[in-house]
Amino acid sequence: MRNVTCAFCVLLLAGVVCFANSRPGRRVSFNQDWQFRLGDSEWRRLNLPHDWSIEGEFSETAPAGTGGGALPGGTGWYRKSFTIPTTSKGKLIFIEFDGVYRNSEVWINGHYLGKRPYGYSTFEYELTPHLIYGAKPNVIEVKVDNSQQPNSRWYSGSGIYRNVWLTTLDPFHIEHWGTYVTTPDVTEQSAAVVVKTRVNSAAPVDLTTIIHDADGREVSRVTKKGLTAEVSQTLRVSAPILWSDERPYLYKVISELKQNGRVVDRYETPLGIRTFHFDVDKGFFLNGKPVKIRGVCNHHDLGSLGAAVNTRAIERQLEILKAMGVNAIRTSHNPPAPELLELTDKMGFIVMDEAFDVWKIQKTKFDYHLDWDEWHKRDLEDMVLRDRNHPSVIIWSIGNEVMEQWNKNPAGGTISRELGGIVRNLDRTRPITSATNGVNVDNKVITEGELDLVGTNYHHAEFSEFVKMFPGRPIIGAETNSSVHMRGSYSMPSDEILRWPRKKEDILKVGPTYECSAYDNSTAPWGAGHEEMWKLVKNHDWFSGMYIWTGWDYLGEPTPFPWPAVSSYFGIIDLAGFPKDPYYFYQSEWTSTPVLHIFPHWNWKPGEKVDVVAYFNIADDMELFLNGRSQGKKRKQGDDMHVFWRLGFEPGVLKAVSRKNGETVLTKEVRTADSAAKIVLTPDRQTIKADGTDLSFVTVKVVDKNGTLVPAADNLIKFEITGPASIAGVDNGNQISHESFKANQRKAFHGMVLAIVQAKQNRGRIVLKATSDGLVPASIVIDAR
Ligand code: GAL
Repeated sequence: MRNVTCAFCVLLLAGVVCFANSRPGRRVSFNQDWQFRLGDSEWRRLNLPHDWSIEGEFSETAPAGTGGGALPGGTGWYRKSFTIPTTSKGKLIFIEFDGVYRNSEVWINGHYLGKRPYGYSTFEYELTPHLIYGAKPNVIEVKVDNSQQPNSRWYSGSGIYRNVWLTTLDPFHIEHWGTYVTTPDVTEQSAAVVVKTRVNSAAPVDLTTIIHDADGREVSRVTKKGLTAEVSQTLRVSAPILWSDERPYLYKVISELKQNGRVVDRYETPLGIRTFHFDVDKGFFLNGKPVKIRGVCNHHDLGSLGAAVNTRAIERQLEILKAMGVNAIRTSHNPPAPELLELTDKMGFIVMDEAFDVWKIQKTKFDYHLDWDEWHKRDLEDMVLRDRNHPSVIIWSIGNEVMEQWNKNPAGGTISRELGGIVRNLDRTRPITSATNGVNVDNKVITEGELDLVGTNYHHAEFSEFVKMFPGRPIIGAETNSSVHMRGSYSMPSDEILRWPRKKEDILKVGPTYECSAYDNSTAPWGAGHEEMWKLVKNHDWFSGMYIWTGWDYLGEPTPFPWPAVSSYFGIIDLAGFPKDPYYFYQSEWTSTPVLHIFPHWNWKPGEKVDVVAYFNIADDMELFLNGRSQGKKRKQGDDMHVFWRLGFEPGVLKAVSRKNGETVLTKEVRTADSAAKIVLTPDRQTIKADGTDLSFVTVKVVDKNGTLVPAADNLIKFEITGPASIAGVDNGNQISHESFKANQRKAFHGMVLAIVQAKQNRGRIVLKATSDGLVPASIVIDAR
């Protein structure tokens, strides 16, 4: 991981943020002050990361299709002018792109630097030979071609959607992704830390490698003198504090390079000390203890922010998942933004880092299969080189449901072996899997691919067969569930699972309301309900865990529906970040947080039969009262994980009480809402950093005069903002809304809206005001510091 350098403080003049960091460092953000133009449009100024698709309009005829989110692609150009001081002559200067979707081509001062087709790879170019020094500006130009559509089964976004960095190096330096840290021998008393460092140097240099603990105290140090290329050093950490999902303790490795006594480079690598293995019978073990992998798959988009990377938005996604009890993330189906892995290291998630959704055989007309022959080796190697020092990365996945898995295709075996070899060549400390929905012995990806872990997708009905099919091999549920829900939408009976038909004609016959029930009773045809699946996983030790499809809703793939649906129903959390009811199911099973969640809302027709479902934990039983009258106590029966009542509706108050040994644990009320009367705003954070990127996520609720959420409210909420901030996006989690994510207004959906407030670079008091015809308005203050 490259650091910040102050050799480039001068770039401040060009609007580049330069962080105060110890000299000599390595890199600065290169996100500010770009010019952008889409197709033949006018140039405009913007800061990166940027996704132009999210700014577009939804269209039934968008070439990406609803699978790709029904938003536009196209060809965009970015350019940036910058100066390099004459004092930098003799240094080496590089530009690094964390990811550009897709087919990027880059020029510096008219010199072509190269092309990178895969939109999820991180890459850099050396600028040095083509630079102009002094007052005269250099121009960097980037062409991004996402015009050939469809090229993805989900929303990809378009543009320079991840961070860009400028790195300045002394000719004596540590290479890009130049360290490789492993911990081959860990005991309670001590851990061996092996650090391999690739040094680029024409003359001998000295390398000192230092380990700091989480408080910045030095715990180990070793120096090797007079080297010019790769070197391996072994350090010892005594009484190491181990990294885990519950306590993600991080050390840091600092590599300091000296030439003739002068520090010429300094490089930091995260270090988490942990041991793990997958046992055929007992599942996954972390630091010697069995841990069930309770994971979710996620795509990379950030809802209304599109694909444009924002660290706080990723952190919020992970925070909400962590509170649900999730301890693992699968980066379906591509290498993630580096920031995601920095956060999973810090927050404690077990990551399955995935390379590809397609190999040589296409899934969509213009997808990666076109680039496979030329690029797969490079793209896979770069993912492993970039990510292999992250303690949170525990599993490599070389592919998702690749077409080579079908029809006994021998290419399944040969490509799988080739990719396995590429990974093993760079890292032998993690198991390799491939996520396969052809869970059978004819699948050569599994049977001939030398995978360390069998990755199964779906097929829960054949669950008990898995062990017989693959004797002696550890198994992970690389993808499970595919339940589909819309927040706040309920269809009864709650205790019968609707598996949606596969064909559009049949769905249209069912009568598409474009709603999927948020009771745990609605899945894709190949899917499983949450309780249905978790019972299987919980009760079988050999199944090391599951990555649920998906944690968050994402743009595109609105299975089971066609247009006008444009975003997915698979999330346990909607696109805006509001939990759907199954969120509390998992929280009650996966955490020790006291949970009592009853649903649905309490606005129905008099006399209508309504299923009331409750998720609770810690308590023995639960009693339900309707307008003060007890409806009886219920305990979970057998291996059930919920209780339910079927009641005739009458308006009023539904009250739940959970008890343990007769003592009340929690109470919860759901009330019949009156008509919409006012707006309530709740920011997730009232103080944000004045750094131009930080965010406050503001939940907007439409409530009645007593403060009860109005479940059917769809009032148009308008926002006004004053102070040093802007509205970065608005959303409501409605999969069929075609309102713009970039507007200053949004209709409520089931009573809720999200507004995302983004800081500028100056401090001050931000006021967000929300108004709506006929409702009492609301405003809140957020401080930018
Ligand atoms: C899987 C696939 C995912 C997603 C999911 C929807 O088969 O791997 O990318 O399409 O189905 O259920």
